[in-house]
Amino acid sequence: MEIKVFGVVGAGQMGSGIAQVAAQTGFEVVLNDINMDFVKRGIGNIEKNLTRAVEKGKMTEEEKKTIIDRIKGTDKLDDFKQADIVVEAATENVQLKLDLFKKLDEITKEGVILASNTSSISITKIAAATKRADKVIGMHFMNPVPVMKLVEVIRGLLTSEETFKTVWDLSLKMGKTPAEASDFPGFISNRILLPMINEAIYALYEGVGTKESIDTVMKLGMNHPMGPLELADLIGLDTCLAILNVLYEGLGDPKYRPCPLLKKYVDAGLLGRKVGRGFYEYNK
Ligand code: CAA
Repeated sequence: MEIKVFGVVGAGQMGSGIAQVAAQTGFEVVLNDINMDFVKRGIGNIEKNLTRAVEKGKMTEEEKKTIIDRIKGTDKLDDFKQADIVVEAATENVQLKLDLFKKLDEITKEGVILASNTSSISITKIAAATKRADKVIGMHFMNPVPVMKLVEVIRGLLTSEETFKTVWDLSLKMGKTPAEASDFPGFISNRILLPMINEAIYALYEGVGTKESIDTVMKLGMNHPMGPLELADLIGLDTCLAILNVLYEGLGDPKYRPCPLLKKYVDAGLLGRKVGRGFYEYNK
């Protein structure tokens, strides 16, 4: 099936980034969230990114307008009736994703691929909520989506070869480099990244270093573009905690135990950049 209409569930930082890249690739995009305020905020972020590109001379004002015009915002899942593929980037919560995929399976046309941008939840389990497990796959973009080159592509147990190839080729068409990971908790990216971030939080918790010294060591000593605590703020501390819980419960190994300090930050609502404060404070 030729992909013309690209559906995205979730207009947060990941969903709006995916919608932006899809629109820049030339697809008609349907961007959905649970209410129009969230959708408008997502489209507002896309506009901001594109305005920056215009200011830097990387894009014309007309090109920006054409891209924005390709994005249709909606708070109704029924609008995915016209979609040729749907990528889900909703909150990292198992039950929410299972319910969503069940509904998407009922709403979308037969044969449409349903991809999840989940950072750690089992694709096989998500697929089992539908009657089209062969068409369900993981398509894991990285944050910030317009900048990061990687798409981790994850097959569920029943994902077909055709679905895998379509999503692999689609990632290339969107200007990304795909890499395949098997369906184990955290896949490749978060199996490796989150234990490092968690260890940095333990180092802060135990007083091994201040947040500034921990981030400076990793930036200047290991050439990471961001320190692990800054990166945790970028990802969202609630998302970091959710992924660590999936690793901890899914792999059953105490080495993945989320740091109590991370839990405390999440309990306090200090979720990182998206709310203006996590380990650091940000001007909104
Ligand atoms: N959205 C869109 N574009 C953005 C952006 C955003 N949020 N943030 C930065 N950019 C763009 C800038 O406009 C700039 O573009 P040009 O090169 O065209 O001018 C470019 O990115 C570089 O930005 P800056 O010069 O402002 O800053 P920088 O050089 O420090 O780069 C960064 C910023 C790209 C975020 C860099 O610090 C970085 O790569 N950090 C690590 C990010 C990372 O590890 N992401 C993975 C997180 S894990 C994940 O996503 C998976 C998961 O499941 C948890």
